Order: sequence, then structure tokens, then C-alpha cells
Amino acid sequence: MATKNGKVVLITGANKGLGKEIGRQLGALGYTVLLSARNEKAGKAAAAELVAQGYDAHTVRLDVTNPDDIGSLVGYIETTFAKLDVLVNNAGIALEWDGRPTDADKVRRTLEVNLIAPFAITEALVPLLMRSDDARVINHSSMLGSIGNAENAWDQVATFMAVGYSTSKAGLNMLTVMQSRTLASKGIAVAAAHPGWVKTDLGTQAAPMEVDQGARTVVNLVTIARDQFPHGQLLHEGKRIPW
Ligand SMILES: NC(=O)c1ccc[n+]([C@@H]2O[C@H](COP(=O)([O-])OP(=O)(O)OC[C@H]3O[C@@H](n4cnc5c(N)ncnc54)[C@H](OP(=O)(O)O)[C@@H]3O)[C@@H](O)[C@H]2O)c1
Repeated sequence: MATKNGKVVLITGANKGLGKEIGRQLGALGYTVLLSARNEKAGKAAAAELVAQGYDAHTVRLDVTNPDDIGSLVGYIETTFAKLDVLVNNAGIALEWDGRPTDADKVRRTLEVNLIAPFAITEALVPLLMRSDDARVINHSSMLGSIGNAENAWDQVATFMAVGYSTSKAGLNMLTVMQSRTLASKGIAVAAAHPGWVKTDLGTQAAPMEVDQGARTVVNLVTIARDQFPHGQLLHEGKRIPW
């Protein structure tokens, strides 16, 4: 049983993959972990797994693209926890790695989940984050959104570049810089994380990294001392990735 540290963290898309593992690692450190999931059954199963390991885990239904779900989420956190210390915008999709040409519909759907949702969810949760004495927002991004890499190392990334996914993460990187500036006066620190290429449903089993290692970049940004927090930067394993 982990001793509770009094901090509440919400992770989106946390029924599996990196989101669930981030929850597991933060649960082990004593965080109260709220694993949100669009599929309630999957969210309950993930939370039950963490509770069985002795962690303080909860679940709430959240399709990140559904404004009604976002409204209910705010009410649930207000009623249950009265504040939020950390928001991890983790839910993400990659619809374009199926070998077929992308199209406008796939690009639009990807932007909706990977970029617009993190913006909308963060905006909705600002009042609850402002009640924390060390509020943080971590956006789960990707080096595939690095314009510098696309420009300077195209041959190394070309296989993985897809219009919807890469522009959604490039947009998320810009959102991170803007949020880190605009939310600073409200006491909310913001940064982005690149987990590496990780074995998950999204990353596929071809990925070289295990999920526990992939989760560490976000966990480090959640736990790093406030005076060392890399405001408005994109990090991978403690090192800055250029825009
Ligand atoms: N794995 C990698 O190599 C890698 C590399 C760079 C960045 N990332 C980023 O890391 C994050 C987590 O990815 P992962 O590898 O853990 O992928 P994953 O195993 O496929 O998990 C993605 C999660 O997002 C959820 N999700 C998708 N659409 C949603 C929606 N509309 N509402 C709520 N939840 C939704 C999924 O829920 P369902 O189960 O219901 O589909 C799932 O829980 C993503 O933002 C991804 O872009 C991953």
C-alpha cells in the first residue's frame, strides 16, 4: 500500500498503454490517480488493477472529444477531490499507419483527439488546477511533431511521418509553449513529453522500448522539483528535444 502524498493526477486515455503505466508508476509514488477512459468497462478494469496493487486509483468516463463528458469530468473532480494537481493529456490516436494514403477525414479526426481535446480539457480544468499549490499540465507529444527533425533529419523520420499525426503533435508542441506562457500567472506549469518509440497498441510490437521505460519521461515531469521544471519545453528522458 503506497502512502498517499495528497496530490491528485488525471490521466486521459489511461485504460491501457502508456496512460495506464503512468498511472501505475504515480500510484506507487503515492499519487491519487484518476484514470479516465472513453470505455467505462476498460477504465474500471485498469483502476481495479491498480487498486489491487495497493494504489489509490479511480476511473471516470471521458471521451476527450465529447464536450458533455468534459463538463461531467469537471463536476466529478470538483465533488470528489475539490482540486486537481496534475493533468496528463495522454489520449492519442494514429490512424494513418495502416499503409494506406491519408485523407482529410483521418487528419481531422486525429487533430480532434491529439490537439483540440488537450486544449479544451486543459481550459475546462484551469479553475481546479488553480486550487493546487504545484499545478502541472503535461502534454504527451512526440518527436514526430518536431519541425526541426522534419527539416534536418527527414530520412530518419520519413517512414513515420503522417500529415494528421505529425501536424497534431507539432500543434500540441506550440500549444505547450503558449499554455506555459498564458497559464504561468495562474500558477500552472506546462511542458510536453516524448516517450520514445514504445511497445503499445499505437507504437506496435516493433517498438524497441518497453512501456515502463516509456512512461518515465511523463512521470519525471510530474515529480521533478518545481524549481527545475522545464517550462514550455518538449522533453525525452530529461533531455530537451528541439522544436
Ligand atoms: N507508443 C509510442 O511509441 C508513442 C510515441 C510517441 C508518442 N506517443 C503518445 O503517447 C500517448 C499514449 O499512446 P500509447 O502508445 O499508450 O497508445 P495506446 O496504447 O493506443 O493508448 C491510447 C489511449 O488513448 C485513448 N483514446 C484514443 N482516442 C480517445 C478518445 N477519443 N477519448 C478518450 N480516449 C481516447 C485510447 O482509448 P481506447 O482504448 O478506447 O482506444 C487509449 O487509452 C499518445 O498521445 C501517443 O501519441 C506514443
